[in-house]
Amino acid sequence: MARKGIRFLRRGRVVEVADFAPRTTLLDWLRIDQRATGTKEGCAEGDCGACTVVLGREREGRLVYEPVNACIMLLGQMDGAELITVEDLAQAGALHPVQAALVARHGSQCGFCTPGIVMSLFALYQEGGRPVTRETVCDALAGNLCRCTGYRPIIDAALDVCAEPPADAFESRNEATLAALRRLDDGEDVFVGEGHAFFAAPANEETLAKLLSDHPEATLLAGATDVGLWVTKGLAPLRKFISLGRVKGLEEIHDSPEVLALGAMSTHARAMGPLAGIDPDLGELMRRFGSAQVRASGTVGGNIANGSPIGDLAPALITLGAILELRQGNDRRTLPIENFFLGYRKQDRRRGEFLRSVLIPKPGPNDHIRIFKVTKRFDEDISAVMMAMRLTIKDGRIVTARVAFGGMAAIPKRALAVEKALLESRIQEGTAWAAAGEALGQDFTPLDDHRASAAYRLQVGKNLIVKALAEIAGAPSDATRIIGHREAAHAAE
Ligand SMILES: Cc1cc2nc3c(=O)[nH]c(=O)nc-3n(C[C@H](O)[C@H](O)[C@H](O)COP(=O)(O)OP(=O)(O)OC[C@H]3O[C@@H](n4cnc5c(N)ncnc54)[C@H](O)[C@@H]3O)c2cc1C
Ligand code: FES
Ligand code: FES
Repeated sequence: MARKGIRFLRRGRVVEVADFAPRTTLLDWLRIDQRATGTKEGCAEGDCGACTVVLGREREGRLVYEPVNACIMLLGQMDGAELITVEDLAQAGALHPVQAALVARHGSQCGFCTPGIVMSLFALYQEGGRPVTRETVCDALAGNLCRCTGYRPIIDAALDVCAEPPADAFESRNEATLAALRRLDDGEDVFVGEGHAFFAAPANEETLAKLLSDHPEATLLAGATDVGLWVTKGLAPLRKFISLGRVKGLEEIHDSPEVLALGAMSTHARAMGPLAGIDPDLGELMRRFGSAQVRASGTVGGNIANGSPIGDLAPALITLGAILELRQGNDRRTLPIENFFLGYRKQDRRRGEFLRSVLIPKPGPNDHIRIFKVTKRFDEDISAVMMAMRLTIKDGRIVTARVAFGGMAAIPKRALAVEKALLESRIQEGTAWAAAGEALGQDFTPLDDHRASAAYRLQVGKNLIVKALAEIAGAPSDATRIIGHREAAHAAE
C-alpha cells in the first residue's frame, strides 16, 4: 500500500498534503494555496531567482540547505524535505542576520528580487566551513537577477554576513530538524491521485520499475529543471508523474581510482566535486551549469535523458567514454553514452526504461582533457557551442583522440573527421591544428537559431579546437583563458 499524500517539514511542523493536482508547482501552492506571497514569480522558468526558497535535506549524514526555484519545482517533490521560505527567517520579530545585512547595506530598492536574494544568501550562510569570497558570493547569486539595486551593496552585505556567520535559530535546531527529517523517511511509496492523473514517488527501484511498466507513458521526473518548464511555459497537459526523488540508491555517488559512478539522481551540485576531480575544466563546466538553484535540483540523469543538443554534460561524457546503465522492468543493459543519442530529442531509451547511473572511466596519465563552453553570458546561460576533447599523447604523438561537440547538430556528437585529422600527428605541429580545425566542416552543418548563427558556431568550433591544442601543446593558459582557473586549481592542489 502506498502513502496517499506527501509530507514535509515547515516551521518545525509536519505538513501533510493529500489532495493536489499533479502539475501543481511549489510556487503556486505557496502563493495561491498558502497565501505565502513573500516568494515572488518573475520569469516562471528558473532564470530570475525571484521564487527562490531553501530546502533542507539530509545528505551524507548531515543537514544541508540548498536554494531551489519554486516556480519550476512540483509540489510533490517536497516529500521528505524541510521547506524554508522568506517568511520563515525572522525569529520573534528580529530579522535574520542576512536580512539585517541587506538592510544595513541598502541592498534593496523595488524589492521584487529581494526575497529570492535573501534566500540564496541564507543558503550560503548555512553552508559554513568554507571561505566566502567575492567569487563564492557571485556564484551563489548567479541565479538571482536584480534590475534596480545593482549588485555592489548586495555583495557587500553577503560578505559582511556570510564570511563568518554567527549561529542562528536554524543552526540551534539542527539536530531536531535532522531527527524530524529521518522520521519522515518512512520507505513507503507515495501515490497521490488516480490511475488517470497522479503524482507518484516510489521508494525503491523495484516499485519504480513496476510502476513505470504499468504506466510507460508517465513523465519521469528528476529535478524538474527541464520538465518544470514544460508545465509553466509549454503548458503541456501532463497528467502522470513518476518522481525519482525518493528512489533509494539512484542518488549514490561512488568514486574509485578507476571509475566515477554517478547515480542518475546525483544532482549537479553533488556531482560537481567528483567531476572536478577528473579534470578542472569539468569542474569549471559544472560551476557554470545553470545557477546554484538549478544545480541543487537538476540531475546528471535528467541532463542526459533529456537529450538536448545543447546539454552540457553529454559532450564531456562522450569524450570520457562514459557508459550508461539502464533498466526496464527486470532487464538491465549498458550502453556507451555516444550511442544513446539517435536524433533530435530521440534517445535509445525503450518504453518504460529508466536511466540508473553513468559510469565514467578515469583518464590515464597520458590523457589531456579540455572542455570549453561558449555562451553569450558567462554565468547561467545555455551553451551556443560546447566542445570537449580528450587526447592520449605518447612521445609527443597523438595516439587516441576523442572530440565531441554540443550545439553543432541535432544531437551531442563526436567529430570523427577532426579526430581522424589529429590521429598520429605531433601535438606541437601547427599544421595539424589547422587541419583539425578545417575538418570540423566535414563533421557538422551547425544549427542556425536565436542562440547563434551556423557560421558563428562553425568558426567558434574551429577556434576551440585550435585553442585546446595550443593549450595541450603548452601555450600558457593566461593567453587563452579569461579566467585562469586552471592555474588556480593546480595551485590549490
Ligand atoms: C535556468 C536554467 C538554466 C539551465 N542551465 C543549463 C546549463 O547550463 N547546461 C545544461 O546542460 N542544462 C541547463 N539547464 C537544463 C536542465 O537544468 C538540465 O538539463 C538538467 O540536468 C535536467 O535535469 P533534471 O533532473 O532537472 O531533469 P528533469 O527536468 O526532471 O527531466 C528531464 C528529462 O529527463 C527525463 N529523465 C529524468 N531522469 C531520468 C532517468 N533517470 N531516466 C530516464 N529519464 C529521465 C525526464 O522524463 C525528462 O524527459 C538549465 C535549466 C534552467 C531552468
Ligand atoms: S520566477 Fe524566475 S526563477 Fe522562478
Ligand atoms: S531591488 Fe528591484 S529588482 Fe532588485
